[in-house]
Amino acid sequence: MSENRVQRPRRFLVCEPRHFGVQYAINPWMNPDTRVDVDLAQEQWTALISAYRSHGHSIDRLEPVPGLPDMVFAANSAVVVGGRVFGSLFHAPERRPESTHYDLWFKTAGYEVHRPGSVVEGEGDLVWTGRYLLAGTGFRTSREAHREAQEFFGHPVISLTLVDPYFYHLDTALFVLDEENIVYYPEAFSPGSREVLRRLFPDAVLATRDDAMAWGLNSVSDGRHVFIAPQAETLAARLADQGYEPVPVDLSEFHKAGGGIKCCTQEIR
Ligand code: ARG
Repeated sequence: MSENRVQRPRRFLVCEPRHFGVQYAINPWMNPDTRVDVDLAQEQWTALISAYRSHGHSIDRLEPVPGLPDMVFAANSAVVVGGRVFGSLFHAPERRPESTHYDLWFKTAGYEVHRPGSVVEGEGDLVWTGRYLLAGTGFRTSREAHREAQEFFGHPVISLTLVDPYFYHLDTALFVLDEENIVYYPEAFSPGSREVLRRLFPDAVLATRDDAMAWGLNSVSDGRHVFIAPQAETLAARLADQGYEPVPVDLSEFHKAGGGIKCCTQEIR
């Protein structure tokens, strides 16, 4: 029953992990006593960028800044739809200075940046489906920011409540496969939000807790290839059955900071 899946080339903004580390704990994955292998992190990240390039995607890079160890997680810096940039206001004071650097990158690239009035963490919590934005709240991004994003973009914003601290950003519990379908881990959501997802995406691929804990929901799909953590074996196999091509990319060093493939990838639309 596998269909012929069509890829759409993407433009990604990324930030090298030159200053990456786990220096504070702002989610349950982080422990400042954990040793990060900086060389391995650099290798893993480089492999992700090569995988994107070899599958036809274009890459923009922004210079990392010393003292901002989470800056590699480019997805959190903004949401860009139709060339409009909705900037971020980080929950943790440790990450707030990242915005200055990302905003400057966007301005230099010719974009205007909207500065939000309340806490919002970019594509970490605001996920574009091609028709509307799915918006996470509960741990980081505020409901007020969901309303602000709807006003700014003029696209419907659907608020979803996250309930499990391991899945503190929407992009740790859900990703978009293509304009028709998504994958998510139901237990990461409140009962009402689960029902909303079920109504909107009756044919969604439902992931298990093991897939979610293995960072399988923090994947990037171009409509055909799914860049996915190799640890999420069950999910990768199910996607292959449905005609997608899993492209395994191991970012295990970044899991120590509570991040994976999607977190390292900001899409410019
Ligand atoms: N340590 C970072 C934080 O807690 C990880 C961010 C991961 N990014 C993501 N899009 N989920 O903010």
